[in-house]
Amino acid sequence: MFNDHTILLGIETSCDETAASVCIDGKIVLSNVISSQIATHRTYGGVVPEIASRLHIDCIDYVTRCALDEAGISLNDIDAICATKGPGLSGALLVGYSFAKSLSYANGIRLIPVNHLLAHISANYLLCKIETLDDLNTLTMDNFPSSALNAPFICLLVSGGHTSLCLVKSKTDIEILGQTIDDAAGEAFDKVARALNLPYPGGPQIEKNALDFNNKEDVSIINLFPRGSVKDKPYDFTFSGLKSAVLNYINKYKVNSKDIKEVQKISYAFQESVFDALLSRTILLAKEKNITKVALAGGVAANKTLRMRLDTACKANNLQFFVPDIRWTTDNAAMVCAEGYLHLNDKNKSYIDSDIFLD
Ligand code: KG4
Ligand code: ZN
Repeated sequence: MFNDHTILLGIETSCDETAASVCIDGKIVLSNVISSQIATHRTYGGVVPEIASRLHIDCIDYVTRCALDEAGISLNDIDAICATKGPGLSGALLVGYSFAKSLSYANGIRLIPVNHLLAHISANYLLCKIETLDDLNTLTMDNFPSSALNAPFICLLVSGGHTSLCLVKSKTDIEILGQTIDDAAGEAFDKVARALNLPYPGGPQIEKNALDFNNKEDVSIINLFPRGSVKDKPYDFTFSGLKSAVLNYINKYKVNSKDIKEVQKISYAFQESVFDALLSRTILLAKEKNITKVALAGGVAANKTLRMRLDTACKANNLQFFVPDIRWTTDNAAMVCAEGYLHLNDKNKSYIDSDIFLD
């Protein structure tokens, strides 16, 4: 505890990023260290779970030390260790969660297990990054990039493994009202990118190619691919039909992945289809539930076009829009601190015997 503030250490290893972070009160980030395995997995076109686990083992200790050093904090100053418990890759989760349990046990620091998906949503509560603890004294609300987000709100959670529409009734009471019945949005980005011979992860590659496309007003291209809907489930998503339509188009027209203009066109048309589906359901849900605030979360929330389009759609519908800083959209441990902080008062539970969960 530092001057009535709670200092949290976060640890995240659910997929292919080894991450550790030190945060204050689940809102202010002192350090956010991420060791990405992307370069290794890229050779295989996607994440290889066994390699991911081994790479986490190699650097979890170092990444955690870096996060503590960068924050200028020692383990003695940490009030709680928040660690991702699931969902994710089992071997990868086991490395980070077991490491966190050992640190907790050996140093007598309480452990707070964190759900990875809720952590993505809680990234919206992170307010800013500071360089040293002394900077806490100079913080005023004017320094914060966005005003604080309070429940109730609708959260569109779009990551590599999940696509859900959540009603956040309170920060710890969340109901999923819509979800994908097949591929997650990020997964669809990755699969389409692969078909276009773009490197893993596909999301940023599709985004770049779509941004570079010149003919953005051409309605025939905007509507090149379908917007799937799910019968009798107005808030659910389906992306497998869209993915098949893109693959069929590539085969039918024998698209050469070296034809940059064609890759840009397909990337743009695909992205428009995904975003139309995401936006229409999000706005519909907010309107029907009479909720005035909308937040975005998950790795796909790093996409600037999605951020801008949802912002515009919210403004047009008199809704307030929130989105985390881009650093806190893809997997990181600051968001794990933000979520863990909400569970600081679950004091009676002992988690040292707890285990990971997969989905
Ligand atoms: O949340 P995240 O880091 O990991 C999971 O929990 O799944 O999300 C990773 C996903 C990948 O599918 C990746 O392609 C996608 O997020 N992604 C993006 C962008 N950056 C990452 N998708 C679209 N545009 C981006 N800029
Ligand atoms: Zn994630």
